[in-house]
Amino acid sequence: MTNTSTPSPFTTLGIVGTGAMGRGIAQLAAQAGLDVMLFDVKEGAVEEARAFVNGLWQRSADKQRITTQQASQYSERLIKADELSALAPCDIVIEAIVERLEAKQGLFSDLEAIVSQQAVLATNTSSLSVTAIAAACQYPERVIGFHFFNPVPLMKIAEVIPGLRTSNEVVQRVNALGKAMGHFTAQATDTPGFLVNHAGRAFGTEALRILGESVTNPATIDRIMVDQGGFRMGPFTLLDLTGLDVSHAVMESVYQQYYEEPRFRPSPLTRQRLAAGLLGRKTGEGFYRYIEGQQQIPEEPAIVPASPCPVWISREDPESADALAALVNAAGWPLETGARPTDQALCLLTPFGEDATTCALRQKLDAKQCVAVDMLAGLDKRRSLMATPLTQSHIVDAACSLLHHDGTPVSRLQDSNGFVLQRVIASIVNVGADIAQQGVADPATIDRAVELGLGYPFGPLRMGDHYGTTRIMTILNNLLEATGDPRYRPSPWLRRRAALHMPLTVA
Ligand SMILES: NC(=O)c1ccc[n+]([C@@H]2O[C@H](COP(=O)([O-])OP(=O)(O)OC[C@H]3O[C@@H](n4cnc5c(N)ncnc54)[C@H](O)[C@@H]3O)[C@@H](O)[C@H]2O)c1
Repeated sequence: MTNTSTPSPFTTLGIVGTGAMGRGIAQLAAQAGLDVMLFDVKEGAVEEARAFVNGLWQRSADKQRITTQQASQYSERLIKADELSALAPCDIVIEAIVERLEAKQGLFSDLEAIVSQQAVLATNTSSLSVTAIAAACQYPERVIGFHFFNPVPLMKIAEVIPGLRTSNEVVQRVNALGKAMGHFTAQATDTPGFLVNHAGRAFGTEALRILGESVTNPATIDRIMVDQGGFRMGPFTLLDLTGLDVSHAVMESVYQQYYEEPRFRPSPLTRQRLAAGLLGRKTGEGFYRYIEGQQQIPEEPAIVPASPCPVWISREDPESADALAALVNAAGWPLETGARPTDQALCLLTPFGEDATTCALRQKLDAKQCVAVDMLAGLDKRRSLMATPLTQSHIVDAACSLLHHDGTPVSRLQDSNGFVLQRVIASIVNVGADIAQQGVADPATIDRAVELGLGYPFGPLRMGDHYGTTRIMTILNNLLEATGDPRYRPSPWLRRRAALHMPLTVA
């Protein structure tokens, strides 16, 4: 195979395995003008896939999104292959069969005896090594990962994963095909989880650690990540949607493939819940219960109004202190402005990565008076607070009432290093930064792929720049010091750029 500047387009695409993924890929390929040959070992599976995709096109035509003529043109491009050998004319075959190395290796060696020597063999694997699949082939340079997400037509991204021996020409041709199919193509190295599933490790595992430390319950963690973090859904709603049978296996697989990298360490909580059959939405109970498909979300505890008391605010972080002072003034509570609080004051602290206890003692304040407020995302949508185990209950009640004075929801957490939002955000940024450090993909690709593949409000590198890398470093370093857990060690990519006041998005 030779390198060309304009990659030559594919004309005939074979799909092996016409389940959830195969049929979606077939749909996009037919829409992009390719002839698509479908093969599946299961009796009737191809007919079912064709009927499914034809139904989608028919509905699009009914809604006048496409013409009836287009619908029938697309439909004519889907051709059933009765035998694997019927795929001989294909210049690319994408497999979407069972996720088993030997099955994929066996299929590709069978295909090598059928298709031409120039034909490309692409795998939609999520978790297997492309290089290992290619190793069973006579021409490993033609084998590539082409990883779509479910549902394929709606998730506008495909990862393009060259194995160690894949040729550049194949990479370029598959990239061009992905774009012609209407997707953003994220080229990434053949590493565990590739790009998107690697970047997605922090959200769930850190949330599970927070739950494992009894900082709060799943519904509160979800509310904080949605309201304060701007995520479309919280980590426990997501785990329930995916199902623990799938997500626990992915957590274990990526952790093991990275030789027990502490950043990816799964939680003992999910193993237990898996054993109990609490898989999530599909079994009617996971972290939430589902009645007739409706997620049952426990109500938030009511906040009882308290009479105003004097409020003193630590000025360690002046910007946070000013924002809190504005809130106290807006609520009409008396603000103490002395260097030290009086004995009656509610003392508000604004730690990053520290717990309320450490923050109070370090500032030589009386822990009985102290409450900490999470200022990472400001005070707009929701406010999270935590008290030391010594804080007097009337002081905690006063803090809840003050922060709730204008009706903004308040989450009260147990004392913990880094609240909920700080921990999860810092973990996402750190894992994203390490993906950049490892050269899995370039910074712009990392951010775009995560935004499209995981639906996060920002890619991890832009997220770090948005919240401030100095602050993310403070959170991680304080977590590392307090826990001794190397999962919180900052990635060199993050550490260097924070020290140099450079954006994380710059290579
Ligand atoms: N479902 C997802 O969210 C998702 C996302 C990305 C990647 N993937 C990967 O895509 C692949 C397919 O996943 P899916 O969810 O579409 O599975 P699925 O079970 O819906 O479909 C698999 C199809 O492959 C057929 N099949 C199995 N072995 C075969 C063989 N040897 N030859 C021909 N056909 C065979 C089955 O009959 C079935 O119709 C897996 O590798 C999976 O890891 C899945």
